Amino acid sequence: MILIAGGSGRLGTQIVRRLAARGLAVRVLTRDRGRAAHFEQSQVDVVEGDVRDGRTLGAAMVKVTTVVSAIHGFGDIGDVSPASVDRDGNRRLIDAAVAANADVVLMSIVGASATHPMELFRMKHAAEEYLRASGAPWTIVRATAFAEFWLDLLDQTAATSGRPVIFGRGANPINFVSVSDVAELVERAVVDPSTRGATLEIGGPQNLSFNELAAGLQQASKRTATARHVPRAILRLLAAVLRPVQPHRARQIRAAITMDSIDLTFLPTELHRRFPELPITSLAEILAHR
Ligand SMILES: NC(=O)c1ccc[n+]([C@@H]2O[C@H](COP(=O)([O-])OP(=O)(O)OC[C@H]3O[C@@H](n4cnc5c(N)ncnc54)[C@H](OP(=O)(O)O)[C@@H]3O)[C@@H](O)[C@H]2O)c1
Repeated sequence: MILIAGGSGRLGTQIVRRLAARGLAVRVLTRDRGRAAHFEQSQVDVVEGDVRDGRTLGAAMVKVTTVVSAIHGFGDIGDVSPASVDRDGNRRLIDAAVAANADVVLMSIVGASATHPMELFRMKHAAEEYLRASGAPWTIVRATAFAEFWLDLLDQTAATSGRPVIFGRGANPINFVSVSDVAELVERAVVDPSTRGATLEIGGPQNLSFNELAAGLQQASKRTATARHVPRAILRLLAAVLRPVQPHRARQIRAAITMDSIDLTFLPTELHRRFPELPITSLAEILAHR
């Protein structure tokens, strides 16, 4: 049995479908089984649990041989944060996997480090370190930004005016990867024991600015209007005002400012040298299949 924590999410859903299509027994861990209602009942076992409470993980671990962590606490509300989910929640999940003698495949982020300006990257790094020292056989998959997530977000902001909203100047080059390419790598990591002990980094073929991403979206959507920009000064002000009342929104805005300024470029050459058969989907292909 393979447990996918975060199996209800954007990436997790694709991982679940791929593993189930291989005929493997899969179980989704979710805080609310309604979030896994899009799966065929017969295809997937669904267990409710919350990585912020280790007592809820016991039922999920029965007969589990591999745990996939595709969770994050970045944009959620309440007591959900990178610290409570990505660091502490992953630690609980890893402890439960060790107790069940299960392997762990952990989703992390390219650039995760103890000193990164973004909390999410620091908390992912803490989870990686915990996993490497845990004694469980492990594979870490680090991905760059998911292209489909950001395209959906730009599309949503364009819903009424036809003009996507970009936070900041939008000129900073960023590596965007297709979620389906990441799902294929995670599937590979689950079934291929030679990936144990490896940190695999995946990215897309191009580094693109938000201005370029938005322009591609506009063209594919047959919209002619250009993007709107929220200046960094306004973003800083908004983040400061929202911090005490809506910490998750303030966190997202601070992340947007950071994404507008730090180096987020990547070249996926190492991964494709190791696994030349893995797909490397371009933005044009992603836009064509939306
Ligand atoms: N999005 C990106 O650009 C990006 C880039 C690099 C790496 N990643 C990583 O890829 C993975 C998947 O990202 P995604 O964007 O596909 O995620 P997503 O669609 O936002 O889904 C997040 C998942 O986390 C689960 N989750 C959150 N808090 C939880 C908790 N307390 N207990 C149990 N489950 C919890 C949610 O499950 P329920 O709501 O059903 O409980 C949901 O399935 C994450 O590890 C993320 O850090 C994402």
